[in-house]
Amino acid sequence: MLVLGIETSCDETAAALVEDWKIRSNVVASQVEIHREWGGVVPELASRQHVRDICGVVERALADGNAAWNDVDALAVTQGPGLVGSLLVGVSFAKAAAWAIGKPLVAVNHLAGHIESIWLEHGRIALPAVILVVSGGHTSLYLVKQEGEYTLLGRTRDDAAGEAYDKVAKLLGLGYPGGPIIDRLAKAGNDVAIRWPGTRLTNPDRNAPERDGRFDFSFSGLKTAVLRHVRQRQAELGVERLPQDEIVDLAASFQRRVVETLIDRTFAAARWHGAKSIGIAGGVSANSRLRDEALAKAERSEIPVYVPSLALSTDNAAMIAAAGLRQFAAGRIAPADLNAAASLPL
Ligand code: KG4
Ligand code: ZN
Repeated sequence: MLVLGIETSCDETAAALVEDWKIRSNVVASQVEIHREWGGVVPELASRQHVRDICGVVERALADGNAAWNDVDALAVTQGPGLVGSLLVGVSFAKAAAWAIGKPLVAVNHLAGHIESIWLEHGRIALPAVILVVSGGHTSLYLVKQEGEYTLLGRTRDDAAGEAYDKVAKLLGLGYPGGPIIDRLAKAGNDVAIRWPGTRLTNPDRNAPERDGRFDFSFSGLKTAVLRHVRQRQAELGVERLPQDEIVDLAASFQRRVVETLIDRTFAAARWHGAKSIGIAGGVSANSRLRDEALAKAERSEIPVYVPSLALSTDNAAMIAAAGLRQFAAGRIAPADLNAAASLPL
């Protein structure tokens, strides 16, 4: 079963071939250089660039995988969540291509793609598993009791962890995207230089009262604390840009707090639900401290932790093809009038 995956939910145009859970090709055209100038993703520029790149990216994925169009058994495309103009490019392309080659199309939730990146990388893992999806748009915990079935355990009430990284980097004048930059700087900093206030969520989420809220996240308080700290130091020193050693210490202390929060809540959820394994996926799972600490804690607590390789952590289409395989096996084919869904839930 050869699946062509297509992903255009944000600022990466991606296509990949996955055959029976093995990657044959994985092509990503990043738009980072275009959006860097604006300090973040500009939706209108993103969709226009997807239109320019999509044909070449798909052709390259076919060529890299030594496949022709008629070798493809099914197409899988990200339906949402994401930027609607970006999603529409992938969805329209995939619908037209599926119709032209007479093969079925499967609609994939981007978050299911991130979750399935764990299975794509590691094969079968022990169930039940608790999976943390941590990216620029989401910070959510899922329970997987059966392969392909995802139960939401908790999510962020405000900012996603990656978003907090990006906003803090912008505030410090470090550039975009912030995650990799702060990760690199943090390595040289003192991670206890600044003590940030803690966040504990005990009240249920007003938007989801049926969940108890114990496994939810919140990063906006930390972001505001960083903002206050930076403004105060700027005033005290009478400078626009803080000295480099202060930036480096701030990066390290911020990263420590984010990683601690993510790991504590993920392991707490795993213990509570008797999980036999833990997965961490999404762009922020590329973070070096998160990976190191999660793997170290896995050894101490005897729950194995699985993370995707770096190429499968950030947005890619191989994970979409993998999630598509899962959907296809369950017989869920997209209708011909499939539409993009900017806030598709999972
Ligand atoms: O999954 P992804 O590529 O796109 C979304 O679905 O959002 O995640 C992108 C996010 C960005 O916020 C970026 O700053 C963050 O992942 N990120 C990182 C690292 N690499 C990427 N955050 C922390 N440390 C990193 N090394
Ligand atoms: Zn993503």
